[in-house]
Amino acid sequence: MRRVDGLNGGTGCGRADNGDMTAVLVVHAGRSGGTREIAEVIAAELREGGLTAELLDAAEVEDVEPYGAVIVGSALYHRRWRPEAVRLLTEHEEALRNRPVWLFHSGPCGPLAAGKRVSLPAGVALLAARIDAERTATFGGKLTPDTASGLFWKIMAAGPWAGDFRDWPSIRAWARDVGRRVRIRVTL
Ligand SMILES: Cc1cc2nc3c(=O)[nH]c(=O)nc-3n(C[C@H](O)[C@H](O)[C@H](O)COP(=O)(O)O)c2cc1C
Repeated sequence: MRRVDGLNGGTGCGRADNGDMTAVLVVHAGRSGGTREIAEVIAAELREGGLTAELLDAAEVEDVEPYGAVIVGSALYHRRWRPEAVRLLTEHEEALRNRPVWLFHSGPCGPLAAGKRVSLPAGVALLAARIDAERTATFGGKLTPDTASGLFWKIMAAGPWAGDFRDWPSIRAWARDVGRRVRIRVTL
């Protein structure tokens, strides 16, 4: 089983071994805010479930050691994860391996977006295996003209892929499930 000790600087409060509340880091990486909004909803669900959740942009993360569990989410662009999310997984590989990690990506838009599962890009899949991350969740994305920058993006945001395809009930359900698993690990 993975280690979940060392929470809150080992003060005793929130320690995994006494079953108190644990801290979850929720990381997001994107370009136009859609993934951040998903991460916000995930963090809110975790808090509802009695956990502490801190929300950070992938570029802001300096240390994952203070957290008992980590969730990393990236937007998909041209079938790739955002570089700052890949960098986070690379730079903190060892620390991430020592705590439960969940990954999600957000991207699929258009009429076929609902329920679509996207595989991790190869490099991220390798990192996920090394970290021993849980199965990756795919969430629909958001493609709207107001946040589109550049001609290609504006064309995409005006076509059949335009719209908001984020399925909030399934995002919330996923977050609740993660929260349950974090709490179970803490009490074991
Ligand atoms: C230029 C461009 C390329 C995209 N490439 C992909 C892709 O390869 N796979 C996918 O599922 N979604 C793709 N999308 C959709 C985005 O992932 C989606 O809009 C997502 O919600 C953006 O998240 P963000 O607002 O956090 O940046 C693309 C969108 C744009 C504008």
